[in-house]
Amino acid sequence: MKKVLITGGAGFIGSHVVRLFVNQYQDYLIYNLDALTYAGNLENLTDVENKSNYKFIKGDITDGDFINDLFSDIQFDAVIHLAAESHVDRSISDPLSFINTNIIGTVNLLNAAKSVWEGNWSDRLFYHVSTDEVYGSLGDTGFFVESTSYDPKSPYSASKASSDHLVRAYGNTYGLPYVISNCSNNYGPNQFPEKLIPLCINNIKNNKPLPIYGKGENIRDWLYVKDHATAIDNVFHKGENGETYNIGGHNEWTNIDLVRLLCDVMDEALEQEIGTSQKLITFVKDRAGHDLRYAIDASKIDKELSWKPSLTFEEGIKKTVKWYLDNESWLDHVTSGKYQQYYQSQYEER
Ligand code: NAD
Ligand code: DAU
Repeated sequence: MKKVLITGGAGFIGSHVVRLFVNQYQDYLIYNLDALTYAGNLENLTDVENKSNYKFIKGDITDGDFINDLFSDIQFDAVIHLAAESHVDRSISDPLSFINTNIIGTVNLLNAAKSVWEGNWSDRLFYHVSTDEVYGSLGDTGFFVESTSYDPKSPYSASKASSDHLVRAYGNTYGLPYVISNCSNNYGPNQFPEKLIPLCINNIKNNKPLPIYGKGENIRDWLYVKDHATAIDNVFHKGENGETYNIGGHNEWTNIDLVRLLCDVMDEALEQEIGTSQKLITFVKDRAGHDLRYAIDASKIDKELSWKPSLTFEEGIKKTVKWYLDNESWLDHVTSGKYQQYYQSQYEER
């Protein structure tokens, strides 16, 4: 059986990727390596935890000795690397943990893969799952393409840009087979309620303010998480060695328009008068160095790998709201107990 290591598989996107691979590829053995930080939660994977082709390993990618031992024990055939510190606001208050996990952690994985694969590169693949934030910020027009120069602006995006460069450097220097994808903003089930959409859903439920940074005019390009998982499946199986693929949903929204739409969808779902949730919108101090606009040109992955998003934003946002309302216990768990400090500290900082 092909042994595929997925890092960060207990997190938001990683759990959707693990589920897709475990269910779709019974001839693969899927290893989910995750440190279970505040963002990692095995409740995201209860439906696959007993499958015979799935194994969970608790471990930290910043521990180089542990990672080397793991690779020499298990001899993975391929790696899909998602483990990261992922929240921009946290990278502003604590850059070092982003440097450790996103840069040092990635180098530990690259070194371990190189040492077990060297001399036998065929059928091996290191797939780095990255972000469109490495390209910096757009003005009112234009799109990020794969050849757009890197211009990261936050400690988070600088750490992801650095890890992208290191993956390419290992390909160029040692011949390590790799692919990279750079995706726009994801939303959907299982996203920790520090990110804009689940934070607003949770705050509406609890009748709390919806904090909009600055004037709410910043633009993000949103993609439903399950569509990202199918794109990752395509890149993993059909991507060319050494190539980069941008992934996005052609779905740009200003933050304020998005939150207004979300408020209306929530009012409908909660059977309350339309306009009720919008009253919670509160403009707060802007994020430091806030990137104005992200927008992905996804024509390469469409043309070369035949991937397209399957859902419209209106469909995706309704499914997302329904998931959060149907999974109250998940939301309660990740905002209480050992997780509470992460949720509360973020909220109180504003
Ligand atoms: P997330 O924060 O929800 O999950 C990250 C996971 O990594 C968690 O399960 C966490 O426990 C694990 N992790 C963190 N540090 C670790 C360490 N030192 N060792 C082992 N595991 C560790 O993140 P996400 O939103 O699912 O993002 C996953 C990946 O996709 C990241 O690499 C991120 O940069 C990238 N990405 C995210 C988005 C997005 O919109 N969320 C968009 C594009 C790319
Ligand atoms: O573009 C891909 C990136 O998208 C990923 O690489 C990151 O891991 C992911 O966190 C996300 O980054 P953003 O900073 O764009 O996502 P976030 O949900 O934090 O913010 C979305 C927008 O909403 C952004 O312009 C900031 C704004 N915002 C965010 C929060 C949390 C608010 O106005 N208020 C808030 O409370």
